[in-house]
Amino acid sequence: MIKQKLKFFITPEVYKYLVAHSVHEPHILWELRQATQKLRGKSMILTPEQGQFFKLLCGLLGPKRILEVGTYTGYGALCFALNSDEDAHIDTIDINPQWHEHALPFWQKAGMESKITQHHGDATDVLNTLNKEVYDLIFVDANKEETATHYELAYALCKPGGLIILDNTLMWGEVVDPNISKKMIRKLRLFNKQIHEDTRVDISILPFSDGMTLARKKT
Ligand SMILES: C[S@@+](CC[C@H](N)C(=O)[O-])C[C@H]1O[C@@H](n2cnc3c(N)ncnc32)[C@H](O)[C@@H]1O
Repeated sequence: MIKQKLKFFITPEVYKYLVAHSVHEPHILWELRQATQKLRGKSMILTPEQGQFFKLLCGLLGPKRILEVGTYTGYGALCFALNSDEDAHIDTIDINPQWHEHALPFWQKAGMESKITQHHGDATDVLNTLNKEVYDLIFVDANKEETATHYELAYALCKPGGLIILDNTLMWGEVVDPNISKKMIRKLRLFNKQIHEDTRVDISILPFSDGMTLARKKT
């Protein structure tokens, strides 16, 4: 590894500045975020800067088939729907059917419900039923203990040249804290090591939110 003097400057103030100077959250996504604040698990929703990043990615990649693992209240699915071509389609999976009841009115209000298919069930089970090598973009964001399993299944479903995004891979820095030994973090550490050594993909870890790994399946 090259030794290089690094300067760390992302303080909470800089982060706020970054968000204020990059994010344009559409009103419907803002409304969905507000409604989610009243719900259990409200911190699970994507951040506006992640949504902004997905918009950029959709513009760059023009994905036609998108898969999301972990829907929650439908923010990510709606981001993908709003920012992809009219003939694009989003499949999204969640184990808890209750979240779909919260997501659907917002997908309908945005006129996007026909672009999104909600799959109910355990992600591993559902992923095993989907067609291989059809997805251009896959976002893995369900239970973190299963990230490695979901990644492997996502890899099989992703087209060569397609992109897999894995959320929460730095888990607010807990992956480097030697005092933290809970199972989820141990599994994430192992996953981060494995994907770094995975020669089937080119990767990059982005340090915003609590870490997002981008993995492009090689052609
Ligand atoms: C971090 S949230 C997803 C956030 C969402 N992507 C968004 O756009 O706001 C994780 C979701 O994964 C779901 N989940 C947890 N374990 C799961 C499993 N085994 N299979 C499918 N979904 C699961 C939870 O019900 C929860 O809604």
